[in-house]
Amino acid sequence: MCGIVGYTGPKTATPILIDGLKRLEYRGYDSAGICLADKSLNVIRTVGKVRTLEDRVKELGLPTEHCGIAHTRWATHGAPSEANAHPHTDDKKQFAVVHNGIIDNYACLRKKLEAQGHRFSSDTDSEVIPQLIAEFYQGDFCKAVTQALSKVSGTYGLAITSIYDPGVIVVARYGSPIVIGFGNGCNLVASDITALVPYTREVSYLNDGEMAILSSDKVEMCNLDNVPIEKRVATIDWDVEATGKGSYEHFMLKEIHEQPDAIGNTIRGRLNHQLDSTRLGGLNMTPHDMAKINRIVIAGCGSSMHAGWVGEYYFEEIARIPTEVEQAAEFRYRNPIITPDTLVLPISQSGETADTLAAVREATNKGATVAAICNVVGSTIAREAGRGVYLHAGPEISVASTKGFTCQVTALLMLAVMFGRNRHLGREQGAELLKEIASIPDLIRQVLKQAPVIERIAAKYVKADNFFYIGRGYLYPTALEGALKLKEISYVHAEGYHAAELKHGSIALLEENVPVVAMANAVPGQDKMIGNIRECLARHAPVIAVVSGDDHTADELADDIIRVPMSSRYVAPLTTIVALQLFAYYFAKFRGCPIDQPRNLAKSVTVE
Ligand code: F6R
Repeated sequence: MCGIVGYTGPKTATPILIDGLKRLEYRGYDSAGICLADKSLNVIRTVGKVRTLEDRVKELGLPTEHCGIAHTRWATHGAPSEANAHPHTDDKKQFAVVHNGIIDNYACLRKKLEAQGHRFSSDTDSEVIPQLIAEFYQGDFCKAVTQALSKVSGTYGLAITSIYDPGVIVVARYGSPIVIGFGNGCNLVASDITALVPYTREVSYLNDGEMAILSSDKVEMCNLDNVPIEKRVATIDWDVEATGKGSYEHFMLKEIHEQPDAIGNTIRGRLNHQLDSTRLGGLNMTPHDMAKINRIVIAGCGSSMHAGWVGEYYFEEIARIPTEVEQAAEFRYRNPIITPDTLVLPISQSGETADTLAAVREATNKGATVAAICNVVGSTIAREAGRGVYLHAGPEISVASTKGFTCQVTALLMLAVMFGRNRHLGREQGAELLKEIASIPDLIRQVLKQAPVIERIAAKYVKADNFFYIGRGYLYPTALEGALKLKEISYVHAEGYHAAELKHGSIALLEENVPVVAMANAVPGQDKMIGNIRECLARHAPVIAVVSGDDHTADELADDIIRVPMSSRYVAPLTTIVALQLFAYYFAKFRGCPIDQPRNLAKSVTVE
């Protein structure tokens, strides 16, 4: 959601903070602010993108302090405005705070603080934090923070500066990620490592209930009771280039094109040709442990949930294990039935999604075996699950997930093969599936070559305001994901539907201005799909068909054809979604949409 960055060290803090905010902007972009802290607090805030803040900072003359905190906001409480932008201070401007998360009891705290004479200047929940710290401060900055936090209920990732301790940043975490970066003669803090990569590779992730006190030459860690703690230092393996756009116009396009390599990284070292199986060491389960699993529950949100639905088909068909997919918030609140033989697979690219994290906690508490499928190494979900599969897709900056999704699907296919080989699946079938997995990067390269054709088709439909995406079997969740891509970046209404379900009501919406994107690949169910396409055509809806290789079954029917390489049903969701990602990308571009920063969205949803 929102992004936090802080720096203390020998350099001028402003350029480092602005650069950090730009790297975090994908986490929220409705307003931004910076506080340079010395014996006074210099707060500058603007509505809109980080660029606006940067311009304002330049106009005012670049502040030269060596310590500061900054924030890019995705509004939760209070509309995007200068007053609601972070950092927030107490009314006497002694403490400045940047906050990610939600303070649930802010209304009651605010009332009390107002009665004690504090004057508030924003509509946010966050402003109670500096006011509370000011209320408790009696000469010890860190103690005042812990006392303030003991009154707060909700979630927070915090970075705080004070006029009483120039050069010191106090940070705390409960439910919203905080990473400490150990630099050369400086120390940094951020809500995710993207902001830290140019300055350090050495990081520590705070857990809930932990704090750190940063100064230029040391970082002290403790819990909220001020008891010192030791933390492991982890090394980031991303390079700085991976977090930039390179020669691409948008991160989304870059990440679409990275998919062959990203999937190659997900697969690397994990195909076990000796056993004709896959090897996913992070799962940390013996063949005996695996054989005991009699049910799988996959929990995730958005694209990760869609990947989970493809996974459901894999696990049931390849491994014959009953599998269900739950929207993570539903899983968390509906008291799910979990036994010790249930394997819960939370899926999260960021590893920070609040509902998915809560599902991990609920499943762990109920005694399930929990294994997370995450991309971001060291993320909260990955750490709390303690076992799982890392995607190694590299940083996904585009708000619309692309390589995250395809790498998740690939990881699920590999997991299904491993569980399948642990049960009834023979060596020959295992070897066949390994061949298919190994072929995915090349098949996706072939889809990417279709970009100019897909771009032309997107241009043709640019005036359409409503779309249907229909599919069956493995291509049903693919249709849902394709529709989500179009919706989120082009703001056009698109519904993903099971092709058979359309005629049970929604077909009433079809007419000549409502294109239908139909997954007509040459996989089982294609004959039925052709029937469904005819039903759409009979309602005068134009049909864009995704078809496989040199199969011409749909050629005469469809108005437009997107050709992806011939593949089995297992790989078809991957080739097909890449074509749909490209379609959404070009469509949004032709409509002039801000593709990497779609309105109302933010990467990594760390509130419920
Ligand atoms: C859509 C998209 C979102 C995320 C969802 C879960 O393109 O990116 O739907 O998939 O917010 O995020 P993660 O996977 O980080 O848990």
